[in-house]
Amino acid sequence: MDSSLESSSSSNGPPTRCCRTCKIIVIGDAGVGKTCLTHRFCTGQFPTRTEATIGVDFREKLLQIDGEKIKVQLWDTAGQERFRKSMVQHYYRNVHGIVFVFDVTNQSSFCNLPLWMDECRQHSLGLEIPRALVCNKADLMSSNASVLIEQARHLAEVHGMSFYLTSAKGLKGDQVDSIFMALAQRLKSQRRESVNGRVLECRAESLKIQARVITAQETKKKWTCIC
Ligand code: GTP
Ligand code: MG
Repeated sequence: MDSSLESSSSSNGPPTRCCRTCKIIVIGDAGVGKTCLTHRFCTGQFPTRTEATIGVDFREKLLQIDGEKIKVQLWDTAGQERFRKSMVQHYYRNVHGIVFVFDVTNQSSFCNLPLWMDECRQHSLGLEIPRALVCNKADLMSSNASVLIEQARHLAEVHGMSFYLTSAKGLKGDQVDSIFMALAQRLKSQRRESVNGRVLECRAESLKIQARVITAQETKKKWTCIC
């Protein structure tokens, strides 16, 4: 993938100008590390201190993928139900990509994933929207985590999601970068396909119109001949 990171900004930073924005929502149980992952991607740092997200936090990063600038806008959502209520409708509007996160040290955060997927379905997010499943806190992983990880890989495969085992805290942030960069790359190629598709549709439509004109002319000719 010929992708590079051109610049980054946080929710408080200056607005970035570019051609396209991809909205990616990051969802999962409270405390699984959504804020740390998005912070790590946008700043390259593990935050020294985090508090439970209230509503939503926004982070942005400008990527350059195959010569095109894409602004990745991350919606770091609240995991706690009481902090989500008023915002849920906004989370799911005009979404281009979804990242589901669970914590490898917390089995129930994995068991709750179907509920998060249901919430996406209920808000009409179809399977055509690229999604990733992230198993976070790999630095705290115990030796018996392998069963959970296999289950997670299987779940990802069944639902057509990419799977990542990451640590927002780990020395290497490249796995964290891969989650968002791969999604942005997929969104970019999806758009190319849909643009190509639209060009073909337009061509087909214009051929249909031409065919209709010819048929109409021929019908008129035949009718004229008969009379
Ligand atoms: P909500 O905003 O409440 O939904 O939680 P969240 O999913 O945003 O979790 P957050 O990023 O705030 O992290 C919760 C706790 O987990 C914090 O104490 C983080 O320091 C810690 N944490 C997050 N990611 C990692 C990781 O990869 N490794 C380790 N060791 N700790 C992590
Ligand atoms: Mg948070």
